Formats: sequence, structure tokens, C-alpha cells
Amino acid sequence: MNSPVIIIGAGMAGLTIAEALRSEGFAGQVMLIGDEERSPYQRPPLSKGLLTGENTEAQLQMRTPEALEKKNIELITGVKVTTIDRASHRVHLDDGRSLEYGGLALATGSRNRPLPLPGVELDGVISLRTFDDAKRLIEGLKDAQSMVVVGGGFIGLEVAACANKMGKDVVILEAMDRLMARAVAPLVSEFYAGVHRSHGVRVELNAKVSELVGRDGHISAVRTADGKEYPADLLLVGIGVIPNDELAKAGGLECNHGIVVDACARTLDPAIVAAGDCTARRQADGALLRLESVQNALEQGKSAAAALMGKDRPFVAVPWFWSDQYDVKLQMVGLSAGYDQIVTRGSQAEQKFTVFYFRAGKLLCVDSINQPKIYMAVRKLLDKGGSPTPEQAADESFALETLLQS
Ligand code: NAI
Repeated sequence: MNSPVIIIGAGMAGLTIAEALRSEGFAGQVMLIGDEERSPYQRPPLSKGLLTGENTEAQLQMRTPEALEKKNIELITGVKVTTIDRASHRVHLDDGRSLEYGGLALATGSRNRPLPLPGVELDGVISLRTFDDAKRLIEGLKDAQSMVVVGGGFIGLEVAACANKMGKDVVILEAMDRLMARAVAPLVSEFYAGVHRSHGVRVELNAKVSELVGRDGHISAVRTADGKEYPADLLLVGIGVIPNDELAKAGGLECNHGIVVDACARTLDPAIVAAGDCTARRQADGALLRLESVQNALEQGKSAAAALMGKDRPFVAVPWFWSDQYDVKLQMVGLSAGYDQIVTRGSQAEQKFTVFYFRAGKLLCVDSINQPKIYMAVRKLLDKGGSPTPEQAADESFALETLLQS
């Protein structure tokens, strides 16, 4: 690989690429360019411990500028790349600079889907993605008593749980007929609606937000199409993300709701790789897979660095995710698309159970609630291509670990 390597995006994927290049033995210049003003930090605590004070600001920082300097990784913050010129191997920055690259890595992430309603510009309307968003949310939570959360996905539910813990009156307005519909089975959605309600959070499903009401420039209420009005000192919008693939598209790279890459994080341009939320990975059957997860940033980041070094390191691990709400830990591994049978083990009443999704008798995925041992056993098993039978999965007395020995 020719030097320098330029990495666009200083989030988890970008940082992983930079460090993996060094561990792969790349000795040339590495530049990590981010549009935020800070050095790389972890996003997962932004909707969890940072809000409640369980995590400090310092704990979120993944690397100090000095730690990056030690690895000879040049961090450029507060700067946006505006164009990629593939013919001349150059990128142009919004501070007027133009830099030549030997290898280019795109780790541009995703951005929040905006709520398309007048009033989103009111004070107290927050969409959570960055550290600065989280700071605004923390400030808003200090004064707010009533909070409305639009979107019952991961961000909305985690923030709702934190706000509830902090004594706020919380209402969740979800457009679909169940929570986290994109990720979990209906029975898990129902379980979570029950958990939130048991803590005193109001969960409204099939809710169509129609109007944001302001007073003196600040949000004061949210109206829904059925004529209901919910008081709101604070409004969090968590209605999904859009991959940041515009730069790649303008540079002539193939994009389809994400920058299209192969299993090794390569684009069709041999000098350019991409990793993380911004990608759509071509699978063996030709279908594209978009994952928005820490694991994807880490694994694809390593694949991307290897690809820049001319090596194949396909991302083959089974996808995993997690979510923390109250004292309920949800751990998911695998993808449930196409399941034809669901089997459960454990007790919903005790908030310890696991849902197993099968297709034609083979395990595709599990959603595990407060059962980390079962989750870990299944994760290892799926990575090995193994599967319990539905009967074994349902049988509490059957130790799934035994299947790992064969
Ligand atoms: P999401 O896709 O998980 O959930 C969005 C929710 O908003 C869905 O339930 C959807 O039906 C609902 N929705 C869409 N339009 C709506 C509307 N107009 N009114 C009401 N509801 C509407 O996305 P979310 O929660 O915004 O999270 C964003 C990103 O952050 C994702 O990439 C997610 O994976 C990531 N994340 C992951 C976490 C985890 O794995 N624990 C935690 C927090 C965020």
C-alpha cells in the first residue's frame, strides 16, 4: 500500500482502521480526519451511563491525542472532507487543503433521520448522535419534568429508561405497532413495552406525531394525528439513521443505502475501502447487509486495514448487538430475517429468558434477556456454524455449552 493512508471519519471504525494498519505493520503516514472537534470517543454510553452520571466524560474517550501521536497517527479534527477526486488520488477539505492519498478509507458513519415537521428547530428538541448532542440532552434533563421520546427503537428506549430513572415523566411515541420492530420478535417488543410501563413510562404505539408546539421558542407539547396532546419540556427524536454515503457517491463509488463493499471491506476502487455504519456489505448470495453496530465498526475496520495492505480478512463473524434499559440487558446475536419458528427458554416474569429463532430447524439468532451465559454459548455456537435443535433450545436442563465440544 502506498502512503499516505487517509481515513475519513474519526469514530470507532476510523480509529480501528488507523490502529489496525499499525498492527498490520504499515509504516507509512496515516491521517485520521474527523469533523467533530474531539478525539475518538465511544458512542454507546451517550444513550446510557453518560446521561445518568454512571459514566464520566473522560471514560468515553477511546484515545487521547498523545496516544495517537505515539502510534504516529495524525489526528485532524474539526475538518470535513468535501470531495474525493479518485483520478488524482486527492481529497479536498473544507479548510481549503487538498491532500494526496495512496490509500483511502471511508468511515463516515451515519446521521440521524430528521423528523420532517415544523418545530424541530425549537429549543429542547434533541436528536442524539454526538457527544455535543448528549451534553445538550443532559442540560435539558436538568430542567425538564415532562419528556416525550419520538421513536421506540434503541436510542429512544435507552434514553427513556435513563430519564425515568432521573424522575422525569416520560412518554414514548412509536409509529409502528410495537417497539424495536426492526430488531426483535413481537414477544420481545411486548415484554419491553411491559417493562417500560411497569416503571411508569407511557408507551403509545401506532402514534403519528403531527405537530410540535412551541412556547417562547421552546418545545412545550407534541400533538399526534388522533388529536392527543402530550406536554413536553424536552423532546428526543430517535427515528433511525441514514448512512453518510454522499461523499462516496459523488466520487463515483457504488452506493445503495450505504457504500457497497465486499466481505473484505473493499470498494470497486482498489485504493479505497470503507467500514462501519456507512457501508452496505455484499453477502455471498448477492444481497446487501447494513449493520449499525460496534461490532461492525470493529470487524470491518480490521478488514479494511488488511485490505489496504493487500490482505484478505473477510468479516464473517455472526452479528451481535446489545441494549441496556433499566436493569434489563438485551443481547442479540445472529439475524432473524426469514425465521419460521420461535422457541423460548426461561421466565419473562423473572426477566430472564431467551428467544431462539429457527429456519427449517436451524438456529438463526437469539434475543437474550439477562441470560449472558446462554447468549455467549449461542454466540460461539453460531460462529462455529452449529445449532441446537428447537427441542434442545427449549429444554432448560439442556446445557447449550455441550454443543461447543463437538
Ligand atoms: P432504530 O432504527 O433502532 O429505531 C427507530 C424507531 O423509530 C423505530 O422503532 C421506528 O419504527 C421509529 N420511528 C420511525 N419514524 C418514526 C416517527 N415518525 N414517529 C415515531 N416513531 C418513528 O434507530 P434509533 O433508535 O434512532 O437508533 C439510531 C442508531 O443508534 C441505530 O444505528 C442504532 O442501532 C444505534 N444504537 C444502538 C444501540 C444499541 O445497540 N444498544 C443503542 C443506541 C443506539
